[in-house]
Amino acid sequence: MPLDITPVKKGEAIHFHNPNKKFYEAVGGEEGIKKLMYSFYDKIYESDIAHFFPQDEDEFEAIKVQNTKFFVQICGGPKVYENETRGMELNEYMIRLHDDFSVTEKSRVEWLGTMREALNELEEVEQSLIDDFWEYLDSFSKLTVNSFSDGSTYFAAFTQAKEDR
Ligand code: HEM
Repeated sequence: MPLDITPVKKGEAIHFHNPNKKFYEAVGGEEGIKKLMYSFYDKIYESDIAHFFPQDEDEFEAIKVQNTKFFVQICGGPKVYENETRGMELNEYMIRLHDDFSVTEKSRVEWLGTMREALNELEEVEQSLIDDFWEYLDSFSKLTVNSFSDGSTYFAAFTQAKEDR
């Protein structure tokens, strides 16, 4: 099945690469990422992890805006999220931000499943570019899991591929 979810393994070091900039270009740049992320968050509202997110409309809108900025930057667009990281390295900051929530493997799977639905709406984007974006999501999301079924919390180490693509 395309866009598979690989399970997180406690203690496993995570290796990931940022999405290919061609994905960003293929969706239509900033506007395209915004459309994708807003669709994703509309679906989050209907999902099993809705309770993680603010129920207040204005607060929820602010999350959509921030999330869009992050994904614009991580996908190779302008560095519009740069000043949000309180001086931390971007990925480190994004992992730490999720520490405020108890993210389990089950909620990660729901998050990814919701994102998969939003990606399925992209009609004119080459499948190989969607697959590449998915690889980033599948890997990076493992680093947001911080609550395991045995009750432990574990923060995995990660390395990021630096190769130019
Ligand atoms: C590839 C994986 C993920 C990425 C790149 C990501 C990215 C983001 C970004 C950019 C934000 C907004 C940051 C800001 O406010 O500046 C955010 C917030 C959030 N994410 Fe994630 N996320 C990921 C996975 C997950 C997963 C698996 C969950 C599971 C529940 C999750 C739950 C949340 C929550 C609850 C918030 C914050 C809501 C609030 O501030 O009230 N995220 N995430």
